[in-house]
Amino acid sequence: MTLLFDFSAVDSGLCRSGYESAAKRFNPADLEVTLSGRSFMITGANSGIGKATAQEIAKRGGTVHMVCRNKGRADAAKDEIVENSKNENVHVHIVDMSNMKQVWEFAQNFAQNNSLNVLITVSSGGMLTHKLNVDDLQFEKGTFDGTMAYAQNKRQQVILTERWAAQHKEIHFSSMHPGWADTPAVQTSMPSFHAKMQSRLRTEAMGADTVVWLAVSAAASKQPSGLFFQDRTAVATHLPLAASRSTPQDEEKLMNILEELAQKFKP
Ligand SMILES: NC(=O)c1ccc[n+]([C@@H]2O[C@H](COP(=O)([O-])OP(=O)(O)OC[C@H]3O[C@@H](n4cnc5c(N)ncnc54)[C@H](OP(=O)(O)O)[C@@H]3O)[C@@H](O)[C@H]2O)c1
Repeated sequence: MTLLFDFSAVDSGLCRSGYESAAKRFNPADLEVTLSGRSFMITGANSGIGKATAQEIAKRGGTVHMVCRNKGRADAAKDEIVENSKNENVHVHIVDMSNMKQVWEFAQNFAQNNSLNVLITVSSGGMLTHKLNVDDLQFEKGTFDGTMAYAQNKRQQVILTERWAAQHKEIHFSSMHPGWADTPAVQTSMPSFHAKMQSRLRTEAMGADTVVWLAVSAAASKQPSGLFFQDRTAVATHLPLAASRSTPQDEEKLMNILEELAQKFKP
């Protein structure tokens, strides 16, 4: 199959130029904060947007818990973050996030000595045109299509964020879209897109900006819990006429299936 991609159709708002124009309305004081004594857990913190987020938080004095699956890559990133930030409070935890048993064990241990009050999920604009499909959450039916699976997972993350926000009032939840950032994921998963778009892509730090803003700014904490953000602004989770809205029953089903799956792996 030949996949034709119209590069001229890529929304420039998601590219570097979109970030630069959005940044004109950012309040720089929002990120002028000292984070000493505050803890931040970042999954995928050895690369791309996760690493850029870890770097910004360490620079402001926060304690960073890097959750990574590969010790060599994690330690190398940690050394770089400590060197750049002069902050020694950067800790590596080796967890494969696709291994549910490991996730449970890590979460239970971590919760004994730490608490987290804010959860930010890096979703993607790729979910915008996709409707939740609860009939095949494990992608067992038909031929596996990685792009579709990615979009479904990203849609699920946005719905989970909304549902968790309604259920857990003591935690502030957000999901976000980083725009198109030049990270190893884009370089390796979408090589032709990367080759053509490289000069227009955001830097990793630009991709991480809204994550950092959501994590540390007083302005973000005043936003309602459960929203989806792009460039420090809450945006719609559906495109007009996209027919991507799910029913409350389907969303309930998603929550129930995920809960059942999670319980299966509980130690
Ligand atoms: N870059 C973009 O333009 C863009 C656009 C929309 C959304 N996003 C989202 O942004 C997030 C970060 O992506 P990125 O672009 O920054 O990619 P990246 O540089 O490849 O970073 C992904 C990170 O996730 C880690 N990871 C992957 N699978 C893992 C697992 N099973 N357990 C633990 N860690 C795991 C990777 O670890 P290893 O180094 O061990 O592989 C790496 O540290 C993703 O959720 C992506 O979907 C990115």
